[in-house]
Amino acid sequence: MKILLLLAALGFCRAQYNPNTAHGRTAIVHLFEWRWADIALECERYLAPNGFAGVQVSPPNENLVITDPWRPWWERYQPISYKICSRSGNENEFRDMVTRCNNVGVHIYVDAVVNHMCGSGAGSGNRGTCGSYFNTGTRDFPAVPYSGWDFNDGKCKTGSGEIENYNDRDQVRDCRLVSLLDLALEKDYVRSKIAEFMNHLIGIGVAGFRIDASKHMWPGDMKAFLDKLNNLSTQWFSQGSRPFIYQEVIDVGGEPITSSEYFGNGRVTEFKYGAKLGTVIRRWNGEKMSYLKNWGEGWGFMPSDRALVFVDNHDNQRGHGAGGASILTFWDPRLYKMAVGFMLAHPYGFTRVMSSFRWTRDFQNGKDVNDWIGPPSNGNGSIKSVTINADTTCGNGWVCEHRWRQIRNMVIFRNVVNGQPFSNWWDNNSNQVAFGRGNKGFIVFNNDDLQLSSTLQTGLPGGTYCDVISGQKEGNRCTGIQVYVNDDGTANFQISNSAEDPFIATHVDAKL
Ligand SMILES: *[C@@H]1O[C@H](CO)[C@@H](O)[C@H](O)[C@H]1NC(C)=O
Ligand SMILES: *[C@@H]1O[C@H](CO)[C@@H](O)[C@H](O)[C@H]1NC(C)=O
Ligand SMILES: *[C@@H]1O[C@H](CO)[C@@H](O)[C@H](O)[C@H]1NC(C)=O
Repeated sequence: MKILLLLAALGFCRAQYNPNTAHGRTAIVHLFEWRWADIALECERYLAPNGFAGVQVSPPNENLVITDPWRPWWERYQPISYKICSRSGNENEFRDMVTRCNNVGVHIYVDAVVNHMCGSGAGSGNRGTCGSYFNTGTRDFPAVPYSGWDFNDGKCKTGSGEIENYNDRDQVRDCRLVSLLDLALEKDYVRSKIAEFMNHLIGIGVAGFRIDASKHMWPGDMKAFLDKLNNLSTQWFSQGSRPFIYQEVIDVGGEPITSSEYFGNGRVTEFKYGAKLGTVIRRWNGEKMSYLKNWGEGWGFMPSDRALVFVDNHDNQRGHGAGGASILTFWDPRLYKMAVGFMLAHPYGFTRVMSSFRWTRDFQNGKDVNDWIGPPSNGNGSIKSVTINADTTCGNGWVCEHRWRQIRNMVIFRNVVNGQPFSNWWDNNSNQVAFGRGNKGFIVFNNDDLQLSSTLQTGLPGGTYCDVISGQKEGNRCTGIQVYVNDDGTANFQISNSAEDPFIATHVDAKL
């Protein structure tokens, strides 16, 4: 027992699970495809003042320029070199962003694409975002450099060289994922090149990495390059801090490769989370919110301290990756806000909020044929800047879910209730549910087709509170619904099922 406890304590201290966030900050936002210059501004003007912990940025290294279709978002998942040089900006702009964001306590997490290089059919030329030469026929990427020796062509056992069967774990790791040239991660040279790239970013001041396509790498090979990583920059992080690692492993069950194989390296993306939460909030398959009482491990999810959780990501918001049609996105704003609100109120996992760009969806036979469309861009391919409207929303096609009042205020809620237990659960056996976080916060949902009218135990100290969903506390006044908590902690809630946002949340910092 003692040994087990000791091991648990060591496991908990190993920093690759620790998100390296500034004190009391608990949620990061994925600013998908944003330019570095815009992220720097957003850290200073919006994310820091509203308590966001960090930003997941799109892959910063040089990628293949794809013109057919025109500049799809997925071109950034086709590396040409490890030069910091992409449509989001150059290395100077990247450095400026990291410095400015770190200086206001908002940390940067890089989407690292290290499983592969570009697609095998790209040919040869200088069509990288930095103009570096490559030749896919000879497997030459001289700007790294990688050559034919550095790919898995000899190791993959399928006739096509592609992954043909996801039930064969060797194929999934050793063969090409949708034609992408698969790096030979068993080679120390390749591991060293990857570590060099990541250490360059660590030197600039990043706090950690999302590791793309982790399922397509052997956990042991990943450990080998992760063990080569430096500690974080002591300019912003305490001595001995290890980079935060979260691995993209799509495991919704039913395949031989499981998330748990990767726990030794860091956290893992929990794809069951958004798929199940979407199903519940859409009330599909007979699911009800009352079933969320044991949300988390009770639903067969990985341990909370290993999970990176999200309602949607850049893949599954457009039908790629896992989760299918149940995934909630900004296209269903009413249900989406409830899902993100639930996630941010609930203690399970380390949370990531999605921030998207809009595109014209075109469903043909159930599939969005425009699922490839890249970020808002100019005729010459440069990404459009994120403009800010007078009402604080974003322009130029950027959705900025993280600026929606309900979502931003729930990020603040999560910070306020950080460390408090899940408490005072209530449900009506249907889709009216509520829970608290100790004596710091309380949230009530009405996702039924009837009015909610109930007196509930909030756990909060008596007083008048402001609902942070319909409004917020501004100075001494509340711009939304007021919640009157009696001295015994009870409060009466009324939520119409036709309310624009049929949920109420409040916390001790929103006490009037
Ligand atoms: C990281 O810091 C720890 C504690 O200061 C030290 O023991 C370790 O050698 C450092 N690791 C690297 C790779 O610099
Ligand atoms: C691309 O077009 C935009 C908008 O017209 C312009 O601001 C930018 O300087 C152009 N970039 C290049 C590299 O030509
Ligand atoms: C809970 O929901 C059910 C089914 O929608 C409804 O009949 C019932 O009145 C609700 N109960 C409460 C206490 O709100």
